[in-house]
Amino acid sequence: MATQRTLSIIKPEAVHNNNIGAIVSRFESQGLTVVAARMQHLTKAEAEGFYAVHKERPFFGELVEYITSGPVFIMTLEGENAIARNREIMGATNPAEAAPGTIRADFGESIGVNTVHGSDAEDTAKNEIAFFFQDGQVCNRCYK
Ligand code: CMP
Repeated sequence: MATQRTLSIIKPEAVHNNNIGAIVSRFESQGLTVVAARMQHLTKAEAEGFYAVHKERPFFGELVEYITSGPVFIMTLEGENAIARNREIMGATNPAEAAPGTIRADFGESIGVNTVHGSDAEDTAKNEIAFFFQDGQVCNRCYK
């Protein structure tokens, strides 16, 4: 297994419900480390750009409207096998199908309002991290 980085977004309903800490704690307690973080209220253009891969999907308008409905908490997470690990910790896209104990099972409301986003592959992780963070904004976690 290799050390990887992946993009994580805590979505508007979870930020609104004051669940940032509870969700970050899930990642930290299960082997992932925050190496960049910022709160941001995405514009429509930013949301359309970030989710461009879904632009032909029937739910695209709803997705953009929702992700711009309030601030989101955007992070780069690092760890062994971080892309798959993050997806395990999040659970299935649809909270109704997410395994017990996963973030989406515990906090998600619906397939659209599903608490967190996470990159799905190495190339998307690289692109998604670069979409939000410049190189100098992602920290190597050294101490002393
Ligand atoms: P996310 O991981 O952010 O990536 C794209 C998002 O589209 C996904 O989470 C879901 O929230 C959303 N999505 C996927 N399928 C549907 C759907 N059928 N209806 C509404 N939203 C959807």
